[in-house]
Amino acid sequence: MPGRIPQSFIEDLLARTDIVDVIDGLVPLRKAGKNWQALCPFHDEKSPSFTVSQDKQFYHCFGCGVNGTAISFLMEYSNMGFVEAVESLAARAGLDVPREGGGPVRSEAGLGEIHELLELVIEYYRRQLKEHPQAARAVEYLRSRGLTGDLAARFEIGYAPPGWDNLITALGRSDAALQRLLKAGMLIQREGGGYYDRFRDRIMYPIRDHRGRAVGFGGRVMDESTPKYLNSPETPVFHKGRELYGLHQLRGANPARLIVVEGYMDALALAQFGITGAVATLGTAATREHLERMFRITPRIIFCFDGDDAGTRAGWRALETALPLLRDGRQVYFLFLPEDEDPDTHVRRHGPGTFEEEGRLVPLSDHLINTLKEGVDLNTREGRARFVDRAAPHLGALPTGALRQLLIQDIARLAGTGPEQIDPLLRRPKSRATPRRQAQRRGTQTGRPNPVLLGSIIRMLLFRPALAQLVPETGSFRTGAPGEVFLAELLDFVHSRPNISCAGIVENWRDSPFESRLRELSSIRDDAELEGLDLEREFADAMAALHEQKSRLERRSQLQGKGLKDLSEDERQQLRNRKPRGGSIRK
Ligand code: CTP
Ligand code: MN
Repeated sequence: MPGRIPQSFIEDLLARTDIVDVIDGLVPLRKAGKNWQALCPFHDEKSPSFTVSQDKQFYHCFGCGVNGTAISFLMEYSNMGFVEAVESLAARAGLDVPREGGGPVRSEAGLGEIHELLELVIEYYRRQLKEHPQAARAVEYLRSRGLTGDLAARFEIGYAPPGWDNLITALGRSDAALQRLLKAGMLIQREGGGYYDRFRDRIMYPIRDHRGRAVGFGGRVMDESTPKYLNSPETPVFHKGRELYGLHQLRGANPARLIVVEGYMDALALAQFGITGAVATLGTAATREHLERMFRITPRIIFCFDGDDAGTRAGWRALETALPLLRDGRQVYFLFLPEDEDPDTHVRRHGPGTFEEEGRLVPLSDHLINTLKEGVDLNTREGRARFVDRAAPHLGALPTGALRQLLIQDIARLAGTGPEQIDPLLRRPKSRATPRRQAQRRGTQTGRPNPVLLGSIIRMLLFRPALAQLVPETGSFRTGAPGEVFLAELLDFVHSRPNISCAGIVENWRDSPFESRLRELSSIRDDAELEGLDLEREFADAMAALHEQKSRLERRSQLQGKGLKDLSEDERQQLRNRKPRGGSIRK
């Protein structure tokens, strides 16, 4: 196995790369003020909201929210893995990719090799379905589920025979081959050493990604044993939150809408009955990535869930995931099946004709209002207030546009008030306040430093890393709350790299718990505002506010440690002024 790519190389590579060149080669950019713009390659739009900042070496789409560095762009746009993206940038820059431990400078057991291996596995399982002595049972099972041979062939369904080392014997003859099978998720490592086949005595459903590359499998038992389904684990090529079963088989079909179902069997049954466009999430809730992927194919998505409680919950989760993505033109519907049916049983029982009956499709906005209305009495003022209160975060999650406007109107009407009364409830506390004003506005109520204040400090640092020089000493934060410790690390990181860009910082925390927050704070959206400020002063003020907050917190926790009778009148006064939220003062 090659060693890790040293972080210092990533920094160096980003320093020699210009994100504008990288993206412009794939998606032509136009200069717009200080930044560069294009129609966003990750969603449908008519006016450009995809923005690239050369200073920050960072991109951000104001429409769909994608963001990242040159590395992220290659990963997202060109579907490369991290190592592949680094190698591609290194090749442009004329650099060799070094490895820690001086290991071979070989491409990471190329993802390509894993895809190729998985092709062989698909073939192997398909052959077993035809030839294995015990295959009759599998064939009989598929027949009992009503699947035709045609469909099984189209979806490349196979059979993993019983036994611990079938795949190992067939495809794992060398040590390198075993390693590759392991990496592909097909083997499990024994505790005492050695390997065994992950999938045994199961019907095998191959999973291909949207480009048709083999990435993993789902395997089903043929009886009542458990687990009913076993899926490939997350591997370098398989990410459940991204892939949709059945999507690849739709290539060229251009369905006008996609139907999202929960199970392999559901997707297969609908396909068999000629309902084109069904895809299954792989035992997970639909993710934002799933939805974005589907919206690139069609603006119309139908979620089809079982009629039981689990289905209802899954539907609500899907709705919440979809809300921020619902720009004008995109439509999401729900189709709830009767309690004891899933799409597979439904289509077999009632035939394909009635499956998508218009009358049963519930538009997302109806489903939202219906659910929000549940259990509130709109005949009372209290009920209407509760209704508005429940609705606000969901309305706030919708992008601006006609749908949001119309929903606000309807909700206002139901609450017996006007849209202009609702609108202010949705506004996020952000908008025009400068970081300093924000810092002043928010008092400290919890025992931790104010996240808004920390956020604005980090935002400024990402915008202009040189500001870190204003805080040469970070020791006092090292013992603080996690956010403060992070700030200390960030500052120290930048101290030792005076020329680092925003992208260099974000890459340093890739795959850490801080990555997503850092990406969010790197947004180019507020840059123009920061540009106009006396940033050094803003930053110094914000740091002063943080220090002040910190000593207040420390003081308070000391006071709370003492009994009230031990306090001086001064200290009592302080306590009275800052009553901790939910905390009680000992008498
Ligand atoms: N699933 C899983 N692991 C399980 C059970 C389910 O990964 N132990 C996933 C599978 O992708 C499955 C989906 O969740 O297809 C839906 O589960 P379920 O409704 O139980 O299965 P069905 O698709 O209806 O399967 P079948 O009709 O074959 O019983
Ligand atoms: Mn089923």
